[in-house]
Amino acid sequence: MRYSDDLIEEIRLKNDIIDVIGGYVQLKRKGSSYFGLCPFHNEKTPSFSVSPSKQMYYCFGCGAGGNVFTFLMEYENFTFPEAVKSLAERAGVKLPDLEYSKEEKRKADQRSRLLQINKEAAKYYYVLLRDHKGCQGLEYLKKRGLSDETIQRFGLGYSDKFGGGLYKFLKQRGYPDEDLRESGLFNSDERHGMYDKFWNRVIFPIMDVNNKVIGFGGRVMGDGKPKYLNSPETKIFDKSRNLYGLNAARLSRKKNLIICEGYMDVISMHQAGFNHAVASLGTALTSPQASLLKRYTDEVLIIYDSDEAGTKAALRAIPLLKEVGLSTKVVNLKPHKDPDEFIKSEGSKAFEARLEKAENSFLFEVRMAERDYDMNDPQGKTDFLHYVAGRLLNFEDEIERNNYIESVARVYHIELATLSKLVGKLALKGAGIIKTKKPKSGIHSDREKESGTDKAQKLMLTWITSYPDIMEQITDYISPDDFTTDLYHKVAVMIFEQYHEGEINPARLLSRFDDSDETRKVTALFNAVIPLNSDAEKMQALSDVICNMKEHSINYRSSRLDPTDMQGLQEVMRDKKALEQWKENGIRLHISFD
Ligand code: GTP
Ligand code: MN
Repeated sequence: MRYSDDLIEEIRLKNDIIDVIGGYVQLKRKGSSYFGLCPFHNEKTPSFSVSPSKQMYYCFGCGAGGNVFTFLMEYENFTFPEAVKSLAERAGVKLPDLEYSKEEKRKADQRSRLLQINKEAAKYYYVLLRDHKGCQGLEYLKKRGLSDETIQRFGLGYSDKFGGGLYKFLKQRGYPDEDLRESGLFNSDERHGMYDKFWNRVIFPIMDVNNKVIGFGGRVMGDGKPKYLNSPETKIFDKSRNLYGLNAARLSRKKNLIICEGYMDVISMHQAGFNHAVASLGTALTSPQASLLKRYTDEVLIIYDSDEAGTKAALRAIPLLKEVGLSTKVVNLKPHKDPDEFIKSEGSKAFEARLEKAENSFLFEVRMAERDYDMNDPQGKTDFLHYVAGRLLNFEDEIERNNYIESVARVYHIELATLSKLVGKLALKGAGIIKTKKPKSGIHSDREKESGTDKAQKLMLTWITSYPDIMEQITDYISPDDFTTDLYHKVAVMIFEQYHEGEINPARLLSRFDDSDETRKVTALFNAVIPLNSDAEKMQALSDVICNMKEHSINYRSSRLDPTDMQGLQEVMRDKKALEQWKENGIRLHISFD
């Protein structure tokens, strides 16, 4: 059972977004909006806006956005019902009791069932660690230097030697085998049926940025194999799109984020005050993870193990981070193996100093490449210089390139003029090594790969929600079918529906998206920048957007047209003709933008 849409809307209306967010963020009025420092990423100048008329917030820096419910979900890590409850209380609205029947529970979608199973499992492991049956696990964690508070903060747990306890626990709570199998927490074979995957391990619950448990890592106590066991990928656990510790690190307000290899490393760094550390999930860093990091920071410090494997991993990670526009540095931990050991033997002051001394990732790459050349041999050194010059050529910005040339010259005791000349000569020969700026597919954030038509459709939604009065005229030109991108189309249908019912209400519409990623994207649709002043300029821009959208939608529809669909053909022809006329005579809008 869910709260009714009307009730949710009543609660939303009784909680003015400026009041609610004002309780968390200092807001200043600027024009028709309020601005403040974004609570979802680290920044020094305010790009977080809250609109009293739309009753929505949006950050132009990190893209976070939504209505008053999503704000609490993101800020307080509430679920949607929790946000509803909290705001109902705040506004003095009485909520009916929601009773979930077994049947309704089954009907809820599988994703939320899997999340529920993981939550229950995390509880089970958590309780066991604090039980007398878990003393061995607790002792292990203590021996590794974790405080009670840290153990608590990361929700650490324990799976005992007997294995089978979790399965029984979840069966008693009514979860069917089918879901339990999907959760990845169990193995099964013919002789034993289903049994716990994790046993005799301390358990690290892995959470997404909204503090939902999506999987687990388990470390064997002592020297057993494998040292770490992780949940397999499931419908809710995508190892390439999440990072351990990011739920906490994203709120750390530090100037960068730290990426390291292990769960224990993350935990010891957080315990020592470096609460901006995250780790990948037992695999090498991926492009989606780099994009995820970019949502929260502009600079990443790589702290991988100081062995050969760690160095290789760093060299693989650097280009991925670069690709999404992150500036990157590499921290040297020598003579210690990993951050955990470093902090244990040298303390947090010394660790902080190492962070400060982190090496620019380009210089790190060059230094590592140097190992492949015999620098005592004139030929070796020459080859190395040619290699470096080739790399330097890849900096397209001249100032940046010159700065790097200067650093390399200094570090490798090369005459600056000599190196500059070498780079210049290579440039003339067109011998740049990989001079490509082509973005690889699938790793750029939506904001970066936005096409002209996406942009036009987005602008149109912003126009409509910012100036609802224009709808009366817009409907003469544009229909929801002119929005060709899936999500935009879905939103346009809702907006046009709202218009025909009498009121355009973007904040209400947002309550219909459960997925936070989608909410974020939809909010961005209502917050494209319209950087114009006079009404005449606005009118012109609006008619440009109309023409652009129509043109694209005509092309889109005709490319998909079934040749026997005469009616469709006629419609496209009609639209084509209309568009030609609009282009010739201009679109006559009579709108006042107050
Ligand atoms: P501790 O010995 O507990 O300090 O481990 P560590 O934090 O030093 O981790 P290590 O450098 O050995 O490994 C880093 C990460 O790689 C771990 O957090 C795991 O995610 C993953 N990992 C390590 N060993 C294994 C393994 O045997 N199997 C799998 N699947 N992953 C592992
Ligand atoms: Mn370690």
